[in-house]
Amino acid sequence: MGNAYDKLQDCLKAVRAKTDFVPQIALILGSGLGNYADTIRVECEIPYSEIPGFPVSTVPGHSGRFIFGTVGDVKLVCMKGRVHYYEGYPIQDVVLPIRLMKLMGAQILFLTNAAGGLNTDTPPGSLMLIRDHISFFAPNPLIGPNVEELGTRFPDMSEVYSGALCEIIRAQAKLHDIPLGEGVYAQLTGPSYESPAEIRALKSLGVDAVGMSTVVDAIAARHAGMKICGISCISNLAAGLSAAPLNHKEVQEAADQAAPRFTSLVTESILAFGKAGLC
Ligand code: HPA
Repeated sequence: MGNAYDKLQDCLKAVRAKTDFVPQIALILGSGLGNYADTIRVECEIPYSEIPGFPVSTVPGHSGRFIFGTVGDVKLVCMKGRVHYYEGYPIQDVVLPIRLMKLMGAQILFLTNAAGGLNTDTPPGSLMLIRDHISFFAPNPLIGPNVEELGTRFPDMSEVYSGALCEIIRAQAKLHDIPLGEGVYAQLTGPSYESPAEIRALKSLGVDAVGMSTVVDAIAARHAGMKICGISCISNLAAGLSAAPLNHKEVQEAADQAAPRFTSLVTESILAFGKAGLC
């Protein structure tokens, strides 16, 4: 981990050899937003495999690349595909892409994911604004020598999800009639889904949605001084809350069904961030 910054610089050099695009916003395309690139003006794409040292997903269907483009006047870098901690990468590698996008110039990190819902009033297909998070069992991505070039040793996490960005997302949801809940997202490691007893325990701790990503990204981004927001697509009721066992295909299908609403909320929010001068 001592040379984490050198590794980042090598990745940045490989990106800069292909494009001088400077993004304002970094957008993680979770399940349900996989085809988001169809809605933006694409300028350039870089497969992760062309960036030396960059972690590449082992999950079928999670083909990985950066997509650079614009929504209105706002410049975006999107991550289509990303690695998860359960794939076996060290946690510092899992968050390397976030840090790299910050070094490319992105000031805002817009996180999206598919998640299991812990509340029966947020059925599959619901969207949830992430207000705060809890991490269970995934190591803190800042463990190891501090990368001083990025941020401080003990970064504050009292407002990870920017109040100003959340306010804009709420307003856009209302304006465009897109139902939007709010709550606390918890990251567990996966890859197994939770047991019903784990879900009951999480519920009693104040968790509203559970998944296998996002929190470590948010911690690394906050450390590096980015402004952060996130939306979960509730793709299933969490274990024990419905009679059916969980399977990846159904999670994917429910996320796909929510895609049109999810896409328009993300797009309208990005345009509004630009208009408000937040990026
Ligand atoms: N648990 C964990 N991760 C998930 C779930 C879930 O129920 N649904 C989608 N990702």
